[in-house]
Amino acid sequence: MASQMSPFAAVVLAAGKGTRMKSDRAKVLHELCGRPLAYYPVRRALEAGASSVVVVVGHQAEAVEAALAAALPDAPLRFALQREQLGTAHAVLAAQASLGDHAGPVVILSGDTPLLEAATIRAVIEARAEARAAIAFATATPADPGGYGRVLRDGRGRPVRIVEERDADGPTLAIREVNAGLYCADASFLWTSLGEVGARNAQREFYLTDLVALAAEGPGAVAVPVPEEDAAGVNDRADLARAGRVLVRRMATAFLRAGVTIEDPDRFDCDEGVEIAPDVLIEPNVRLRGRTRVGAGSRIGQGSILEDAVLGEGVTVNPYTVVNASTVGARAVLGPFTRIRPGCELGEEVHLGNFVETKKARIGKGSKANHLAYLGDAVIGSGVNVGAGTITCNYDGEKKHQTRIGDRAFIGSDAILVAPIEIGADAYVAAGSTLTEPVPPGALALGRARQTNKEGWAARRKGRG
Ligand code: UD1
Ligand code: CA
Repeated sequence: MASQMSPFAAVVLAAGKGTRMKSDRAKVLHELCGRPLAYYPVRRALEAGASSVVVVVGHQAEAVEAALAAALPDAPLRFALQREQLGTAHAVLAAQASLGDHAGPVVILSGDTPLLEAATIRAVIEARAEARAAIAFATATPADPGGYGRVLRDGRGRPVRIVEERDADGPTLAIREVNAGLYCADASFLWTSLGEVGARNAQREFYLTDLVALAAEGPGAVAVPVPEEDAAGVNDRADLARAGRVLVRRMATAFLRAGVTIEDPDRFDCDEGVEIAPDVLIEPNVRLRGRTRVGAGSRIGQGSILEDAVLGEGVTVNPYTVVNASTVGARAVLGPFTRIRPGCELGEEVHLGNFVETKKARIGKGSKANHLAYLGDAVIGSGVNVGAGTITCNYDGEKKHQTRIGDRAFIGSDAILVAPIEIGADAYVAAGSTLTEPVPPGALALGRARQTNKEGWAARRKGRG
């Protein structure tokens, strides 16, 4: 049990380039469900109870540090620099100074294994404690062991050595049990034995995996089998895509169990950290990103994308709606095809329909803009009706200006409101008006040419022809 475990520190190896990604960006910066790859092992180590986590950085060190610090703002994180990437053993040594005099167990994870769960980390810690071994490490038995280090066991089934694929002979390659890249080692064993690791292998690297042979000869090594899915390392973009689907499926399963209807979990996308209340219904191909929170009883229509959106209870988002960095009040109805750009605060029961775009707009309770409008830099009261085709002209080519519309105002179709401008409460704006002056409360504003009809004009025109 976690409470009985001695405090442990964690080291996450994230200094490598990740050549197989074929990218200008370090592998551990590639995103998975909205977070950098290396976020996951760090986060899971903390969930498992790590007292602190040292991340070994090297390739694009500053960017990796910045990304992790942003993704885990309050975590007890430290960074250690591995200037040259001489192998995984060398990487752990780079973390030694940052761990100071920590004497308990040290958990080591790869920055590229995002699917290992906190319970798996704890299982490895417990296995080492129970066996009183110097090191415990996780193994998996995938159908295709290609690319991983193979686990060699002796006649009594004890692990004796890990052999990297590039150093393996035919019979070793046929072994299907592989090293998952998660270790728990006793601190004093770790620091003494890392000094003994050499680089006499195909890659001329200092392999962390050599610790298993060193422990097996003396204070003992234990292998802890874990699910194949958890062990998957991300080395290329195909691995990244597969791991992303596993993470989304895990989140979908948790939501379904918690009372959320997801019509098709295979056509659902979600970032780590999204919150969905019970009795929400999610149609296919919805994408929930960032710090989105969806209130109870809401319905999210097909193809909608919500990013950093906070929805109250009972909100209806009809299909193909995009909401970005905005809040939506209870029982509001959006879409289909509505676009809410950053900085909007939509009140309760607001209705915004097809091809309505809003930006930095505060809209009060029950106000409606049901068709074809642009409402930007606007403060709109409650009970307002905005007709089809209405535009707030917020930009004069240099600066943005605000439009203010009072409670219960009625804006006729195709109104052009040239900001800065204020329309008073209970005012009416005639359809087709272009307004540049404020409208007092309760007034009717007409800002268009009076219509003239020329009787018999068409016949006269034909006669001329
Ligand atoms: C490693 C293991 C292999 C295991 C596999 C599991 C070794 C020698 N091999 O192989 O047995 O089956 O993981 O996924 O450990 N890194 C550094 N500094 C370095 C080298 C690597 O920080 O000098 C980091 C990388 O950024 C990466 C992690 O260590 O996050 C693992 O390195 P990688 O090159 O991906 O090792 P694998 O070949 O996958
Ligand atoms: Ca790897």
